[in-house]
Amino acid sequence: MKKIITGLLVLSTLTFAKEKILVQGAMDMEVDYLVKSLKNPTKEHIGSWTFWKGDIGNHEVIVSRTEVGLVNAAAATAIGIEKYHPTIIINQGTSGGHDPKLHTGDIVLGSEVINMGAIRTERKENGIKENMKDGIFFDVVQRIRDKDENLVNYKSFISNESLLKVAEKTNYSQGKITLGIIGSADQWNRELERIKYLNETFKTSTEEMESVAVAQTAKAFNIPFLAIRVLSNTDIHNEDFNPKTALWCQEYTINVIKNLK
Ligand code: 5AD
Repeated sequence: MKKIITGLLVLSTLTFAKEKILVQGAMDMEVDYLVKSLKNPTKEHIGSWTFWKGDIGNHEVIVSRTEVGLVNAAAATAIGIEKYHPTIIINQGTSGGHDPKLHTGDIVLGSEVINMGAIRTERKENGIKENMKDGIFFDVVQRIRDKDENLVNYKSFISNESLLKVAEKTNYSQGKITLGIIGSADQWNRELERIKYLNETFKTSTEEMESVAVAQTAKAFNIPFLAIRVLSNTDIHNEDFNPKTALWCQEYTINVIKNLK
């Protein structure tokens, strides 16, 4: 009996109804194919941010162009939540490799996302040289209040387990799919020693500029979240930005959405 109940529980966590999915990309090239794939689309512009509502497969989908960076992503997410009341939020798009095992075209599913730009330092006197490696993770910026107004600190935010499972099983032919830690910051890092330091410190697979803002906002509203990032570039292997990866990531995301049943 216990086994049957456990089985049913596993099944139930993997079953999706007709969902309302907020799916985001920062730039035109990261949303254009998603928008084209919507059935019966309508468009709305709120403040600086644009949303397209339509259908993909069984689901109602709101495509959101967040614009670049943490501030834009947080604002677009909060507006998207209040306006459309999504049951799932997917942040997807391009990123830059931190893990030497990964190449352009590979996809990282963000089992965790972290604000790798959140850094404080201890006091140093004049004349003592600054050193990036003396930075201490400043998790206060990842602090949010729960429904009882208690403050809760997060070391990182996680993608929803059921969404990760579906994404892991979704076909992708342009590279490999891995689970990993995505580092977000308002930064684009190209110094190899710095990339190595970030990878060793935060265990990041890849870096970008939005996911953590979305994950944190989604957590504040308790909405299941999934981060999907394709490597569009990786300085570790001297691979420059390949714009086609933005399309591959959207194609894959659409297949993930279709597999949510
Ligand atoms: N570092 C930071 N952001 C990157 N992006 C793609 N590659 C990188 C990288 N190596 C994405 C960000 C942002 C835009 C400039 O491109 O998420 O939206």
